[in-house]
Parts: sequence; C-alpha cells; structure tokens
Amino acid sequence: MKAVCLLGSPRKGGNSATIAGWVTARIAELGGEVETIYLNGLQYRGCQGCYACKRESPVCVVKDDLGEVLAKAAGADALILASPVYYGDVSAQLKGFIDRTFSWLVPDYPFAEEKSRLSPGKKLAFVLTQAHPDADLFGDVFPRYSNFFRWLGFPEARLLRGCGLQERSNPATRDHLVTGAREIAGWLAETGAK
Ligand SMILES: Cc1cc2nc3c(=O)[nH]c(=O)nc-3n(C[C@H](O)[C@H](O)[C@H](O)COP(=O)(O)O)c2cc1C
Repeated sequence: MKAVCLLGSPRKGGNSATIAGWVTARIAELGGEVETIYLNGLQYRGCQGCYACKRESPVCVVKDDLGEVLAKAAGADALILASPVYYGDVSAQLKGFIDRTFSWLVPDYPFAEEKSRLSPGKKLAFVLTQAHPDADLFGDVFPRYSNFFRWLGFPEARLLRGCGLQERSNPATRDHLVTGAREIAGWLAETGAK
C-alpha cells in the first residue's frame, strides 16, 4: 500500500510531525510505501474558486507546488494529515491543501451519489495536537473535516489527538499517543494492495 503524509506544522520535528513520524515509520515497518511532504516548504495558494475543476478540467488548474501534492495524495491508498491546532482549526498550511481538494469532487457533487473522483477504498488519519489540555476544546475540528473527507472518498477516518502539548513538550511521554500511532498505522497499512 502507498501512504502520503502531509505535515501541516511549520515546526520541523514539532509535536504533530513527531507523532505523524511514528505512524509513517510503523507503516514502513509493515511493508507500506510512505511519502511525507512538509507543506510549509512549498509555494502555493488556496483554492481560487474558479470552478475550472467543475467545468473544464478533472484536476486543479492552479499551477503551483500543490498540484503534484494533490496528485500524489489522490493516488495514495491512505492519507495522513498532521497539524497543530491554530486558533481552533488546522494550520493555514493544511487548510490551503484541504480547500484545493475541492478539485477531487465531481462536477455535480451536490447531487451525485458518488461525489469523489478518487478511487474507492481509501483511509484517512488525522494527527492533531493542541496546547490546551482540555480535550473538550477544539474537539470539533476532526468531525468537521472528516465529514468533508467522506465526500472526497475517504469513508473511514481516524483521529490521533495530543492535548496539552506545548511548544517544548515531548509527545513521547504520552503513552496513549505512542500506542495510538502504532494502532492507526496497523489500520492504515491494511489498505489497498500490499
Ligand atoms: C499561531 C498559533 C495558534 C495556536 N492556537 C492554538 C489553539 O487555538 N488552541 C490550542 O490549544 N493551542 C494552540 N496553539 C498551540 C499549538 O497548537 C500546540 O503547541 C501544538 O502542539 C503545536 O504543534 P506542532 O509542534 O506540531 O507545531 C497555537 C500555536 C500557534 C503558534
């Protein structure tokens, strides 16, 4: 199976990247092929709302670094999206990618039963970290996006969430994150052809 992991934090080796790294390392151990992409190193814009992907093109027509990322992510069996919580949402880097996945929806997506241009059977994992220790805060982020990703062809999504992770926290001290990363990797690695 092939997995693509998108790192939404600008902080290299930060909390979300560390946890996502455990997931991808385990997928590789299980025989999967993984590509990790550091979004903050790319030049791209958000969706331009041109609707070209609904009228004349099956892919996003915006020419920037995200075109290749969208193609790779669309072709993967599993997608891992990692982000810190910024002002109660995903980072702008990840949000920019998510908005551009509008190009993955078929032209008549509001009414079509099959709304996605992607092949079926894909899985999605979110890794979200936040400084606030209260898990009731920002618990809406994952359900909001996983609903949209269901439309996009990822009927199954799982969340690995680290709360109370400050700038200098060490996620490795949280056993539930270490075991959670292993479990999610095992689940993702079962996707597609081995
Ligand atoms: C611009 C900015 C906004 C943030 N907003 C929130 C927030 O709304 N809620 C929260 O709990 N933490 C917030 N944080 C803290 C980060 O989400 C948290 O430290 C996270 O674990 C960092 O992950 P990273 O190391 O992968 O970047 C914010 C941090 C920054 C820099």
